[in-house]
Amino acid sequence: MAGIFGSLFRMRYGALMKKFEGIPGPTPIYPVGTVTDFAKGNPWDICADYEKQYGGMTLVWFGGEPTLVLNDPNLIRDVLVTKADDYYKDYPIKALNPVLRNTLFNLNSPELDKLRKPHSHPLLIEGWDQWLNSQVPVIKSVVNRHLSNMLATEGELEILDKIQRICFEVFNSCTCGPDFEDGGFENFYKISEMATFRMATPQAVLIPPISPSFHNSMRLHYGAYEKAVKKARQNPDPAANNLLSVFLRQGTEISDTQLVDFLSEFHAGGNISSAAGIVNTFALLNSHPEVEKKLHRELTEMIRQKPDYDVASIGETSLVDHVLRESLRLIPPVAMFGRNVRKDRTTTLGGRELPPNTAVMIVMKAVQRSASHWKNPDQFDPDRWANGGIESNPVGSDYFFPFGRGPRMCLGAKIAMFTMKIILASILSKAAVRTSGSSKSVLHCGVIETKELKAALVPHQR
Ligand code: HEM
Repeated sequence: MAGIFGSLFRMRYGALMKKFEGIPGPTPIYPVGTVTDFAKGNPWDICADYEKQYGGMTLVWFGGEPTLVLNDPNLIRDVLVTKADDYYKDYPIKALNPVLRNTLFNLNSPELDKLRKPHSHPLLIEGWDQWLNSQVPVIKSVVNRHLSNMLATEGELEILDKIQRICFEVFNSCTCGPDFEDGGFENFYKISEMATFRMATPQAVLIPPISPSFHNSMRLHYGAYEKAVKKARQNPDPAANNLLSVFLRQGTEISDTQLVDFLSEFHAGGNISSAAGIVNTFALLNSHPEVEKKLHRELTEMIRQKPDYDVASIGETSLVDHVLRESLRLIPPVAMFGRNVRKDRTTTLGGRELPPNTAVMIVMKAVQRSASHWKNPDQFDPDRWANGGIESNPVGSDYFFPFGRGPRMCLGAKIAMFTMKIILASILSKAAVRTSGSSKSVLHCGVIETKELKAALVPHQR
């Protein structure tokens, strides 16, 4: 059967196949191409496994659409860094447009260049590191409020839900201040589900969302930031240290509508992914009690010496930093993302000429677990980051790029690392998080999250 359908595919797409001749990959069949492969497991795992079978570049077919799956650090560097100008972001812009409005995620040059620069984007304020340090108490206060409730809960919690709510409030407090009245976590969540649904829908058949409840959630979610921007404009508080106030004080020419979209972008970009990173870290620590004990000892000592710990205390020499890096190496929350060759040119990749608009898929897992680079690559070993490990593998380098790399690397990487560490330190210094039972990995807004994972918080004895 596969033979007949394989022949049919060749008859229908033979001319296009010729352009990619010699690139290995599963055999496509008419009319679906190679997508039946993805029925065998999670697409992100299947794509990473192609490395073992086909090497660093694999040709897959979504129906009659070819895509190159990249599992090689040199090819990925070429696409994201060396020849970044030869590529643009296509998928999932159409899916995200009505949900995210105007953010960096759904822009390309030249619009992107006008906005991804100081005085245009709040994540690029002057004095960023100093501002970030000033947010430690803000973040701790949100976490501690939630933590009291979590510790008072008998039995197990749905840990992902709790951490997402914490991240939601943390980002809102940092961007708009502790008194900000947000549009409600549920409204944000509904919007994120619409984004997920649209990302999984064949892009050619997408129509604008019609659900009234979705539009109501959009109104409440964005309305909250509109109110915050209006208030900050009309009654500027010279002492306010939230990102919105600092950004406005430094001066900007972007419109208030654009600013609202950027404030909301924090959640689109950071909430689901940061929560996923934290929950994955809990699960890894749970199965490595010796690391968890060591981390608890270190956190207790840090707090004993410096109760108001700062960025430096949880910096690159701390175990919490190494634990988080190791978690992001083994389980990158954003496991793959795409680019397309620009429509107005061809480019070369791995010595081959790629036609205009060729889609490529960047996959992290195989590279971040490459045995040619990492010792015991599948092992959870936070100590690999000590003694030069970070310097050899900085964020955004060949074998470690959980935030992407190159000119479009995650703009929130610093604040994400920072907030994840403080949330982890605040919780783990007070309690062990005992995860249990089954869970499932699902895609949520392009992030792989561990859903339905139950956890009990066991307070540490003083
Ligand atoms: C664990 C947390 C996070 C992970 C794993 C993550 C991952 C990523 C990745 C892989 C990209 C690159 C996508 C590409 O090149 O197409 C990206 C882009 C981006 N991220 Fe993050 N991110 C995280 C948190 C955040 C946070 C907290 C924010 C905002 C505060 C944020 C804002 C952005 C923005 C604005 C972009 C788009 C940059 C551009 O396209 O020019 N991210 N992120």
